[in-house]
Amino acid sequence: MPLTIITTIKEMQDLSDTLRKQGKTIACVPTMGYLHAGHASLIKEAVKSHDIVITTIFVNPLQFGPKEDFERYPRDTERDKNIIEASGGSILFYPSIDEMYPPDYQTTISVTNISKSFEGAFRPGHFEGVATVVAKLFGATKPHTAFFGQKDYQQTLIIKQMVHDLNLGICISIVPTLRESSGLAMSSRNVYLSDDEKKQALVLHSALSEGHSLIEHGERKRAKIEQVMHDILATCPEFTIQYASVAEADTLATPDIFLENKDLVLLIAGFLGKTRLIDNMLYLSKS
Ligand code: PAF
Repeated sequence: MPLTIITTIKEMQDLSDTLRKQGKTIACVPTMGYLHAGHASLIKEAVKSHDIVITTIFVNPLQFGPKEDFERYPRDTERDKNIIEASGGSILFYPSIDEMYPPDYQTTISVTNISKSFEGAFRPGHFEGVATVVAKLFGATKPHTAFFGQKDYQQTLIIKQMVHDLNLGICISIVPTLRESSGLAMSSRNVYLSDDEKKQALVLHSALSEGHSLIEHGERKRAKIEQVMHDILATCPEFTIQYASVAEADTLATPDIFLENKDLVLLIAGFLGKTRLIDNMLYLSKS
């Protein structure tokens, strides 16, 4: 089936209403475009369990800081359309900035506590931008389920919290991060990295893996786990650490000592040259 492309909110809502009346299940895969295999895996996962998969492409100005890469964020919609089709997606929702934020636009959504730390501390306003646009994309596409990558771990928690708090009644499905064979987490921003930087970026995965292995061996002191991560990251002087930390997976709380039976998440962010990289790894407790 050729890809149906929709650019207005009204048309998108009407189509979703019609599909719902026909008893179809709808999945939404929100993206900012410049799709890679990680996005394709989200679409393919959504296709497995839903009749209709709507991929959205919108580079959301609201979630970029004034000094961030909104203007130069990579864009290639023709290539994206092919990736969506090849992955089994049937609809592309591709609104303009004016369509999403007309001149009289006034509302933002703020998920307070869980937005404060980690990414929220280094990117003020970012998560308000994310929560706001995701709520609007949900309002436009009216999905039963929405799919997000684990790569943006804190974002997934914030979206789940928003859906819960605002009674949106949408199921949020998280798909594991897809990695290059080297271990580098797939990201649209990897296009900014030189070949040398791509090799240097592997230090993030090494630090996460080492921290993870320490936890598996029973370590629960946060400072110890973080020290190991910092030591490994320090072997790559080109990488400037913003945070390399471990937190409770469901709340992002950071007690000095974690309880044995808690699921944990290791989180890293920083700059390699001019490119900001983030990555994470989950530790799921056996109990
Ligand atoms: O993860 C992303 O690509 C974006 O933050 C999202 C969820 C599409 C909102 O703009």
